[in-house]
Amino acid sequence: CMGTALKGRKVIVTAGGTREPIDPVRFIGNHSSGRMGFAIAKAAVLAGADVTLICGSTDNLTTPAGVSRRIDVNSTRDMKEAVDAYYDDCDLVVKAAAVADYRSAAPAKDKIKKNDDVLTINLEKNPDILYGLGQRKTHQVLVGFAAETTNVLAYGQGKLKKKNLDMLVANDVSVKGAGFQGDTNIGTLLFPDGTMEELQQMTKFELAEIIVDRAAKLVA
Ligand code: PMT
Repeated sequence: CMGTALKGRKVIVTAGGTREPIDPVRFIGNHSSGRMGFAIAKAAVLAGADVTLICGSTDNLTTPAGVSRRIDVNSTRDMKEAVDAYYDDCDLVVKAAAVADYRSAAPAKDKIKKNDDVLTINLEKNPDILYGLGQRKTHQVLVGFAAETTNVLAYGQGKLKKKNLDMLVANDVSVKGAGFQGDTNIGTLLFPDGTMEELQQMTKFELAEIIVDRAAKLVA
C-alpha cells in the first residue's frame, strides 16, 4: 500500500560502492552490496516519493519497483556528477553509498605487470559529495550514513556537524548483523540538536522505513 508522507517529493538515494580504477583490470573498492540503499529507495517509493536511485557497484540487485530513474556510476567523481545534477530541486537526499575517499593519482593505461616486490600506488583525495551538498543546501533535507569500527557515535556526530546534515545513521560495521552485506543492520539516528535514537538489529528494509519516516518529518 502506498503512503503519502513523501507524496510529490523528489528524493535522491545513493547505494552501493564507488570504484576507482588502478589499471584496466583492477580497482579500489569496498564491500557495499547496495542492500541498504535499495531498501531506502523502496521505502521512499512506498512513502509516495519520486525516487532517483544513484548506484555504484552492487550485488546485481533488482531496482525496486516504482523507482523513477536509476543511474549507474563507477567512480566517486561520477557519483558526485550524478547527485549534483539532481540536487537543486530535490527535497531529500539519503546517502547510503560507501564512497571511495581516495583514487589512484595516475591509473595505468595498460595492465600493471608483477615485476617489483613492492608496488606503490599514489592516491589522491576524492571530493566529499555529501560535504559539498551540505555547503550549498537551500531547502533540502540531508541524511548521511557513517560506517565506523570505533568511536561510532563520536565520529558520527562529527560528520553530522561537518557535513551540515539533518540526520545521520551511525552504524558500527564491526558488529555481527550490522553494516556491509547481509539483510540486517543496526543503526543509531543522530540529530543536530544532540538527540539520538538508538535502534536494535532489524532488517535493512525495517531500518529504511524508520529512516524514511523520520526524514519525511523533517521535509518542510
Ligand atoms: O550496501 P550494504 O552492503 O547494504 O552496506 C550498507 C553500508 C554499510 C554501506 C551503509 O549502511 C553505510 O554505512 N553507508 C555509508 C558508508 C560510508 O561511506 O561511510 P563514511 O563514514 O565513509 O561516509 C560518511 C557519509 O558521507 C556517507 O553518507 C557517504 O555516502 C558520504 N561520503 C563519504 C565520502 C565521500 N567522498 N563522499 C561522500 O558523500
